[in-house]
Amino acid sequence: CGNSSDDAAGGGGGDKTIKVGFAQTGSESGWRSANTESMKKAFTKDKGFDLVFNAADNDPAAQIAAVRSFISQGVDAIVIAPIVSDGWDDVLNEAKTAKIPVVLEDRTTSSADDLYASWVGDDFKKEGETAGKWAAEQYGGKATNMVVLEGTTGSAPANDRAAGFGDAVKGTQIKTIASQTGDFTRDGGKKVMEGFLQKYGVKGINLVFAHNDDMALGAIEAIEAAGGKPGTDINIVSIDGVHDGMQALVDGKINYIVECNPLLGDQAADLVKKVLAGTTVEKKNFATDGAFTQEQAKAVIATRAY
Ligand code: AHR
Repeated sequence: CGNSSDDAAGGGGGDKTIKVGFAQTGSESGWRSANTESMKKAFTKDKGFDLVFNAADNDPAAQIAAVRSFISQGVDAIVIAPIVSDGWDDVLNEAKTAKIPVVLEDRTTSSADDLYASWVGDDFKKEGETAGKWAAEQYGGKATNMVVLEGTTGSAPANDRAAGFGDAVKGTQIKTIASQTGDFTRDGGKKVMEGFLQKYGVKGINLVFAHNDDMALGAIEAIEAAGGKPGTDINIVSIDGVHDGMQALVDGKINYIVECNPLLGDQAADLVKKVLAGTTVEKKNFATDGAFTQEQAKAVIATRAY
């Protein structure tokens, strides 16, 4: 890491400060806030890092520009939470040419494995499968009209959760009557759900599959505004397990949540140090995720870390 500066703060086990550029997606959800906080806590001066943080407001072009700027600043390593999966080859090649290792965090890319050093994140496909298995057990045997609130189009979690859920409900009586992106935001989920409710009415929709809690929370607002009872008239399954989502689960407004752990900072920091030290690391590092019914949420909500 030729661009390291002397470590004025000390600590971190090494004698150099590691300058890391982190290209975050944006600040679309409660999950993202928890993830950003975890990253900022892990990449501190006293742990041996100088963090250059960029949040791209969910604009893939702006995120690529941020990575290019990290390269021209000569950072020691780059961490990216890629907004979308495609379109990374050029800039990852540029980082490779500049000999700056890249660690992917949270989301994956469709680029070849040799264009990044390692990845740490959650198993999105399995999350979708877990949500789908629950839906299949609850509703698979009866005619069920489901609407889907998709995450950001082209993102790994939207693609993989849809695929996992689809596999799990195949052959059941759950029918997807509408599916649209709400961009992982509460506002987006609310607006899309309003449109679905206008078209099908509260009585025409039995189940919502939201690719994250924030969109489920937006859907709850839309259902209530339309005179329906979320969690009763229309059931909701979502993914993340952030505090507001868990509270809605405890309150009976969401029916099931599959966890997606946002606390990836320490693992990402450890990977950066190991990669720079030349230590062999796994290419893929999965965080562990649970899942919660309303009863289970009541038992754990007070002790959740995010
Ligand atoms: O990539 C993880 C997803 O991104 C989370 O499920 C969602 O809440 C976030 O915005």
